[in-house]
Amino acid sequence: MFDHFPAEKAHRILESGPIVLVSTRGVDGQANLMTMGFHMMMQHEPALVGVIIGPWDHSHRALVETGECVLAVPTVELAETVVDIGNCSGDTMDKFQHFGLTAVAAETVGAPLVRECWANLECRISDSEWSSRYNLFVLEVQRIWIDNEKEEKRLIHHQGDGRFSVDGEQIDLHQRMVKWRYLM
Ligand SMILES: Cc1cc2nc3c(=O)[nH]c(=O)nc-3n(C[C@H](O)[C@H](O)[C@H](O)COP(=O)(O)O)c2cc1C
Repeated sequence: MFDHFPAEKAHRILESGPIVLVSTRGVDGQANLMTMGFHMMMQHEPALVGVIIGPWDHSHRALVETGECVLAVPTVELAETVVDIGNCSGDTMDKFQHFGLTAVAAETVGAPLVRECWANLECRISDSEWSSRYNLFVLEVQRIWIDNEKEEKRLIHHQGDGRFSVDGEQIDLHQRMVKWRYLM
């Protein structure tokens, strides 16, 4: 039978999207990175992503000041770095330099891409109406960069408390998606 599981730990079950790095560049020109697990797709076109970024994060100020960020999607070999980036603050350090990551100029936003990540999504805030209540920002994706030469493509998914699952076998049920052909 089922056992009870604490309601406040819902994130351990539902937070299965890939962990991402949020790259920002403040008006002072300083680039920064934070780790983020709370995000969700909200719309196909234009592509909107809801992200939870709290005022406790140094990144919050740069995001609010500039309205821009990059969502960089790491693969499994960066897992330890990703956790460490989420356990220190850009207030006191240059995380790109400290973690040996390479900042690459983006095209549509001032925040840099992360060279070592498989995908980078340039984003601009589309709606911050819910930010004071839920720390929720709705981002519109402006441009996406994919590193097709990267051999490691397994993404990591935070299951809470520093535990992650790693992408495994894929099953292709594309042919059964008869109702949604226009979205593919
Ligand atoms: C696995 C993991 C997931 C996290 N997810 C979020 C998140 O979704 N939203 C958030 O505001 N902070 C999240 N954090 C916390 C920030 O990454 C952390 O506060 C970080 O130190 C912020 O860096 P900054 O102060 O340089 O911006 C997460 C941290 C870890 C380790």
